[in-house]
Amino acid sequence: MKKIVACLLITFGCVSLAYAAGDAAAGKDKTAMCSGCHGADGNSVVGSFPKLAGQGERYLIKQMNNVKSGERVIPEMMGILDNSSDQDIADMAAYYASQAITIGAANPDLVEVGEMLYRAGNAAKGIAACAACHSPTGVGNAQAGFPALGGQHADYTIKQLKAFRGGMRANDDAMVMRQVAALLSDKEIEAVASYIQGLSK
Ligand code: HEC
Ligand code: HEC
Repeated sequence: MKKIVACLLITFGCVSLAYAAGDAAAGKDKTAMCSGCHGADGNSVVGSFPKLAGQGERYLIKQMNNVKSGERVIPEMMGILDNSSDQDIADMAAYYASQAITIGAANPDLVEVGEMLYRAGNAAKGIAACAACHSPTGVGNAQAGFPALGGQHADYTIKQLKAFRGGMRANDDAMVMRQVAALLSDKEIEAVASYIQGLSK
């Protein structure tokens, strides 16, 4: 896993200057058409719509470009970014990144298993600690493009981990998340997603 992290850092390092600087104020207006699902400040109410508030710009830009190109298939967002320029995407990312995420609560019955997996991984099964890339407090690593997870809806996180595991979401560079998720059981996915929903800095 160390090798994967190192090569990711190199890959990301090379492209780190490739995107335009976003203007959060301009981005606020451009997100009017997104707010019905993602919330005006990026804190969605419905569990299947991800919160975008406080997410790293680099990760947001990558996902929007992947949705626009069809590399990440999101039926609810079909066509919505077709007319967005690189600048529009950078502005919307800057806006969401500047907002604060609201933190939810973890299910007390699941928190022990979830926290253990998040912080330490599972050596016996070869599962890396989520904290190694997503940070112990769940804020991710914005510069490297590792997404923030803390406070995210458990429903959304469960769906993503199952999608990585089943290969339906295949836009993770170097297959990092597909390899991690392949080792997770349904129970572990549910527990770690619940822990993440209540995780804050
Ligand atoms: C009709 C509802 C809907 C609208 C409108 C919508 N989205 Fe989404 N969006 C979704 C859903 C659902 C997902 C998650 C899909 C999945 O489960 O993979 C998502 C995912 C995303 C993600 C990936 C989040 C992550 O954590 O990986 C980004 C970024 C995003 N949307 C940005 C936008 C922007 C910007 C707009 C407006 C231009 C927008 N969305 C409009 C429903 C919507
Ligand atoms: C080696 C680094 C690494 C490790 C370890 C790792 N992740 Fe990730 N994770 C990533 C990267 C990079 C992405 C972004 C993939 C992309 O660009 O689409 C990601 C994306 C995700 C997403 C999607 C976030 C969103 O908003 O859609 C979830 C959920 C996630 N990881 C959960 C976990 C969990 C749970 C663990 C531990 C069991 C874990 N990750 C371990 C690097 C890692």
